[in-house]
Amino acid sequence: NMLNRLFQRSIAQTSRLTFMQCRSFASFQKAVLKPLPYAINGLEPIISQNLMEFHYGKHHQTYVTNLNNLLEQASVALEGGDHQKYVDLSQAIKFNGGGHLNHEFFWESLIPVANGGGVLPKEGSDLYAGIVDAFGSFDAMVAHFSANTAAVQGSGWGWLAYNKTSDEIEFHTTANQDRLSDKGAHLTPLLTIDIWEHAYYLDYQNVRPNFMTEIWKVVNWEKVSERYLAARN
Ligand SMILES: [Fe+2]
Repeated sequence: NMLNRLFQRSIAQTSRLTFMQCRSFASFQKAVLKPLPYAINGLEPIISQNLMEFHYGKHHQTYVTNLNNLLEQASVALEGGDHQKYVDLSQAIKFNGGGHLNHEFFWESLIPVANGGGVLPKEGSDLYAGIVDAFGSFDAMVAHFSANTAAVQGSGWGWLAYNKTSDEIEFHTTANQDRLSDKGAHLTPLLTIDIWEHAYYLDYQNVRPNFMTEIWKVVNWEKVSERYLAARN
C-alpha cells in the first residue's frame, strides 16, 4: 500500500514536470519592434524620414520578423528534443537577434536636435571626464570614433564602451550584427553608430565620412551619461 502510494506520487510529479516543460517551451515571448522614441522625421535633416522609413520600418522590422520565425522553430525543436536542429538555428538567431537588439540600442542612442541632440555632456560631468581620460579630449574621441567607424570593412557598428575591468571608456567596432558583448562580458555599451550601407546611403550615398561627421548632431549624450553612471554602479 505504501509502495503503491509512493508510486502514484512519483507518477503525478513526473507528469507535472512534463507539463511544465512543455508549457515553458511551447510558448515564448516574441521580440517586438518598439516605437521609435521620436517621430519618424525627428532626426531630420541629419537622417531623412525617407531613410528612416527604410531603416526602421523595413530593415529593423525584418530582423524582428526573422528572429520571431527562428525563435518559433527553435522552441518547437526544443520541445521535440531536437537539439541538433536547435544548435543549427543558433547562428541565424544570433545574426537576426543581434540585428534587432543593435538597432534598438542605436535608436535609443539618438534624439532630435530640438530635444537636445548633439548637446555635449557638461565638462564637469563624470562622462566628460571619463572620455577625456581615455582619449585626451572630447574632440579626440569624436575624431577617433568617426575615422575608425567609417573605416569598418563591409557592414558593422562603432561603439563607445565602458570596460568594467579597467574602469575606462573604450572604442570598439563589431562586424555585421555582432554584439559588443561578443568581445567580452566586461564591456557595457554606452553608444553605438550603425555603419551598414543602409544606415546612410539614401542620404549620404557613398560618402561614409560625411555621415560620421553629421551623426554627432543627433547623439543623445544625456542617455549615454545615464548608461555610463548605471554601468559604473
Ligand atoms: Fe541598420
